[in-house]
Amino acid sequence: MPWCEKYRPTSFSEVKGQDFAIENLKRFIQTFGSGKNAIILHGPPGTGKTSLAYAAAKETDSEIFELNASDLRNRQKLEEVLKPAIEQKSITKKRKIILIDEVDGLSTTERGGLPELLYLITKTKCPMIITANNVWDRRFSLLRQKSELIKLKEVEYKIIKDILISILRKEGLFVDNEILTSISIKAKGDIRAAINDLQTLAHTKEITIESIDERNKEVDIFNVLKMVFKGKPTKDILEVYDSVNLSLDEIFLWIEENIPAEYQGKELARAYEYLSKADVFKGRIYKQQYWRFLIYENILLSYGISSSKTQIKDGFTAYKRPSRILKIWLNNQRIAKKKSIAEKYAKHVHIGGKRALQEFAIIKQIIKSNPLIQKQLKLDDDETAYLDR
Ligand SMILES: Nc1ncnc2c1ncn2[C@@H]1O[C@H](COP(=O)(O)OP(=O)(O)OP(=O)(O)O)[C@@H](O)[C@H]1O
Ligand SMILES: [Mg+2]
Repeated sequence: MPWCEKYRPTSFSEVKGQDFAIENLKRFIQTFGSGKNAIILHGPPGTGKTSLAYAAAKETDSEIFELNASDLRNRQKLEEVLKPAIEQKSITKKRKIILIDEVDGLSTTERGGLPELLYLITKTKCPMIITANNVWDRRFSLLRQKSELIKLKEVEYKIIKDILISILRKEGLFVDNEILTSISIKAKGDIRAAINDLQTLAHTKEITIESIDERNKEVDIFNVLKMVFKGKPTKDILEVYDSVNLSLDEIFLWIEENIPAEYQGKELARAYEYLSKADVFKGRIYKQQYWRFLIYENILLSYGISSSKTQIKDGFTAYKRPSRILKIWLNNQRIAKKKSIAEKYAKHVHIGGKRALQEFAIIKQIIKSNPLIQKQLKLDDDETAYLDR
């Protein structure tokens, strides 16, 4: 069973993010007879229009009497079935609500059911709820005049996320927080879409945003390595790394790791020559903050490495990920952040930098748990991210 049906709201309180519509719908039903006979709930798909109609019925202990476009178009049926149902206020003692769901679906021809619908609105003895995605169509101008209009909003992603979380809880499943956020944002207010995405994902286990992201990154870098190592060095090769979501430092490691897999003899020597020059620029960039030199590092790593070969290559090469060096590099990055945070803290509380590093485990907790301290220390984004790890 689709989760969006399984978890369709049955009461007003379960319809999230639509307080304004709920208030108005309540009032419309309570004061029925003193104002307009129909209310149009309109807005984008998956925001709760149909659900609200059913919730309203439940909350007021009414029966839903749903008419579709073809019921309306069938004038005879309308006379036979509908009129008595409306005019004898109640047969079963239960109150009734007439629902015309998705009025946009009404045919555009003259006999499309719209005149009957308008007639119905003037005659009805029970509240009518009409739902629509787009109510501003010209052919609905009379309908708009005869009805109250209530707009349902696209639901905020945080509310969508809460709905997803509550469904997961009931299903006894767990999905990574970041994934929930990304599904909720991607849905652009459409709760049904979000729930469907979640259900699809929940059936394909082990997928996390990070793993998808990592996988994409690797596909990219493998392709790029292929272009650099095997292809002709052209001007385009200068921009080849722009398409990879990796820093030049990381790309450097990939190149370094894989040069021997592709080049031999003189090619190999030339490639290492270019790599070592790139490394010199890298050093200057770090030491002297000459960011401009990134350009030269990039030229050497792309065109330089690519032009090291004596001829175009084909065939398949299994490129390796630079795991060992990458780990060292990542670890150094981490230590660097730890150091810089410790230094900032030490300065602030007047202790030595060494002591701050020694007691970093506790200091980290203190800073982490207090956003105010983070602000005072003026931590940058990388440093804050380090704390959250
Ligand atoms: N506001 C909401 N609160 C909680 N769940 C919702 C809400 N809106 C939609 N949903 C979920 O999405 C499903 C579809 O909602 P619903 O049928 O009410 O949308 P709709 O606005 O009528 O969309 P459409 O315009 O496509 O007919 C519901 O079964 C429910 O699971
Ligand atoms: Mg609907």
